[in-house]
Amino acid sequence: MTEEKKWGLSTTALHAGYSPVPMDMTPFRSFVPPVIQSAVYPLSDVDHYTRIVSDEEPGYDYGRNSNPTVDVLQKRLAALEGGEAGLATPSGVHACFVVLQHLTQAGDEILTSHRIFGEAYGMFYDMAPKKMGITTHLVEDPGDLDEWQDKITPQTRFLWAETPSNPTFFVMDIAGLAEIAHAHNIPLIVDNTLATPCLQKPLTLGADIVVHSLTKFMGGQGAIVGGSIVANKELIRNMVSTVARVGSIMSPIDAWLVLMSLETLPLRMARHSANAERLVEYLAQHPKVKGINYPSLPEHPQRELATQQMPDGFGGLLSFEVEGGREAALQVINSFRLIPIVPSFGTTRTIVTHPATHTHCNMKLEEREAVGIFDGLIRLSVGLEDPEDLIADLEQALNKLKG
Ligand SMILES: Cc1ncc(COP(=O)(O)O)c(C=O)c1O
Repeated sequence: MTEEKKWGLSTTALHAGYSPVPMDMTPFRSFVPPVIQSAVYPLSDVDHYTRIVSDEEPGYDYGRNSNPTVDVLQKRLAALEGGEAGLATPSGVHACFVVLQHLTQAGDEILTSHRIFGEAYGMFYDMAPKKMGITTHLVEDPGDLDEWQDKITPQTRFLWAETPSNPTFFVMDIAGLAEIAHAHNIPLIVDNTLATPCLQKPLTLGADIVVHSLTKFMGGQGAIVGGSIVANKELIRNMVSTVARVGSIMSPIDAWLVLMSLETLPLRMARHSANAERLVEYLAQHPKVKGINYPSLPEHPQRELATQQMPDGFGGLLSFEVEGGREAALQVINSFRLIPIVPSFGTTRTIVTHPATHTHCNMKLEEREAVGIFDGLIRLSVGLEDPEDLIADLEQALNKLKG
């Protein structure tokens, strides 16, 4: 672990949590971390289980509690985020749920903003009050630190920030929010899915817990659904027992697929960022494009904060609004030849979504428009293709718009 702390991001993405050389891997001699596809593990004697659960000896007993392949992933995720420990979950939404369930009880309150992805909004604003007795308060302007401060009550158990936010790339001040949270002795939780630890490290900026959808850039190809939590050892240890109790461990094969993808994460994020910047340059000069949510543009209102928090690039997710509203947006999306319509982001291939009719269709119109999700907004997850080919596809689709 001491060595791991000195490694750069690329070495960490390749080596953290697994070494094929030491003795513990001798029986397999596998260069690639093995997929241990087993629901149960033999115990060496009847006391072995007691030694495992009391942390006297490392080991595994039952597949709902832990798994060696999942453990490698959890160590790698923690190392990448610069945290003490990690927990992998079967989806990103489940990671959010584990944090919510773990830190609250009936009668508590939580504080977040409208600028969170659709399912988190449903979980915090609909399910938590109805099923868990938790009240969710929302700040109107997540860029206004005073509003966060003013909305904290003695019952508030945590602050939750998705930054940058999906799909409008709103950037929140992580260090500022951490200071407010800590002054009230509560944790700040950051959803780091858009940035990944390659581009933004919330824990080093003061956050206490980082959650991810591994389905997106971390998983990479759009092949698996998964999520993760990184925090201090004690918090993760307690969350692991919750996960074992409700039976929501990630499957070994999914963990393995994420591990394989993480090896190239720094390279991919650099290319996603460079390609997105090229596309933004192109979109910015197109007469049919009304506005672009991506901070590489000098006129972007949050450019300074975004550059401070993400000095190495802004990643692959951007959105832009076309002249002509919903009809025009749908026409552009339906005209793409290379770019398929897929309701996700973070894949190696470029994909497109219409948030108003798909990912955010359950939001009320006023709420949706208040956070910039207009009918004419198109979300683009920029992949690793040759940027000229993507620009050609954008051009032929945008040029079909009349007038
Ligand atoms: C920012 C963000 N976090 C978390 C999630 C949830 O991830 P999953 O789809 O893996 O449950 C999503 C899903 O869209 C998301 O956009």
